[in-house]
Amino acid sequence: MATTLQSIRGMNDLLPSETPLWQALEAASRAVLRAYGFEEVRFPLLEQTAVFARSIGEHTDIVEKEMYTFEDRNGDSLSLRPEGTAGCVRAMLEHGLLRGQTQRLWYMGPMFRHERPQKGRYRQFHQIGVEAFGMAGPDIDAELILMTARLWRQLELKGLTLQINSLGSSVARAKYRAELVRYFSSHEKALDADSHRRLTANPLRILDSKNPAMADLIAAAPAFADYLDAESAAHFESLQSLLKDAGVPCEVNPRLVRGLDYYGLTVFEWVTRDLGAQGAVCAGGRYDGLVELFGGPPTPAVGFALGMERLIALWQGQGQKAEADTPAVYLMPVEPECVGAILKLAEQLRDACPGLQIETHCGGGSLKSQFKRADRVGAKLAVMVGGEEQKSGKVTLKDLRSGAGQQSMSPAALIDLLKQSQKL
Ligand code: HAM
Repeated sequence: MATTLQSIRGMNDLLPSETPLWQALEAASRAVLRAYGFEEVRFPLLEQTAVFARSIGEHTDIVEKEMYTFEDRNGDSLSLRPEGTAGCVRAMLEHGLLRGQTQRLWYMGPMFRHERPQKGRYRQFHQIGVEAFGMAGPDIDAELILMTARLWRQLELKGLTLQINSLGSSVARAKYRAELVRYFSSHEKALDADSHRRLTANPLRILDSKNPAMADLIAAAPAFADYLDAESAAHFESLQSLLKDAGVPCEVNPRLVRGLDYYGLTVFEWVTRDLGAQGAVCAGGRYDGLVELFGGPPTPAVGFALGMERLIALWQGQGQKAEADTPAVYLMPVEPECVGAILKLAEQLRDACPGLQIETHCGGGSLKSQFKRADRVGAKLAVMVGGEEQKSGKVTLKDLRSGAGQQSMSPAALIDLLKQSQKL
């Protein structure tokens, strides 16, 4: 007996009952992005592994443990994209769109990370990502954050707080890194296995450890704020004052380090307590060195990505619903010979009333079973064509909601009636 085929763990199907809410989030996001002058870009789900390894960092969890990497038939190492920034930078450079220009871009789609699946953490998940190139000041950092705050307002989302931090210049980070290695090495026995591994490869990530046994050691670690260079500090202060002026409250979280290596200066996360352990719904920051690392001209850049599954879960948890559209008209052939007339009538109605949802009954069956199906799909009106109607050139209409009796009318009168109902 054949085994039943199932989806891959951590990769979800989105069923018709769920897609209306996703579409609502997508539509609201598109409208907000447009209002801030951002343009959509699309790039492949697969890239050469080097695109991610070079940018996200060889010693990050994403590259070391979570990427879906394989050799293709030519023996090239390819990876499914675990995030969008690297591919976006690769694409912009490849098409020469970063030469002395500013770009405001966004993308949407699936990302892949082989993490341990749990609520809010999946192996295929979806992001809406935003990248702004060519702008060095804290003004664009602030505007990106204002844009996210507007989206939360638009969606009427509650309970999100903004955390920000500065990771300073690369020189400041190198000094701090050396200090952290010194500190954690002197407490080597207290480190868990993960932190031990990170000690040489990526010591900043030890600060991100969620292990309660490590909490005291981390709390007493040197703070990056003491190593921040003057220029970065000025950028950070200016960002805070822009946010304050704009009325967006934020918390400075000196432990916010992020899991990708390309960041410097500003980093931020919107977090909620309502989703359990996976509380970050939107995160990003500045990555001024990445374009150069990819062989491009020095180009300041900043961006973020929001996790669509987490936002949807939060939105739904706060009572948001989106109903699927139901057909306005359900067309039923009373006899099998009338199928052609029904298909023709349906095309006529769609020509005359663009936007109206019109469903024809396909697959045969008694009139009773056709009415049952019309009810099940939630249609408002049923329109029947049988031998009688074909002879008289009329159709029969029944309002499925009001329970009123049937009416006979010409197709032209039906079109008038539907046009009127569209105006309501
Ligand atoms: P990230 O923090 O890795 O950043 O991911 C951004 C958001 O994607 C997270 O805050 C979370 O909402 C969602 N997310 C991440 N992993 C998962 C998962 N396994 N399951 C469900 N949701 C997840 C980036 O990806 C950067 N590329 C953001 C960025 C753009 N920075 C600058 N530009």
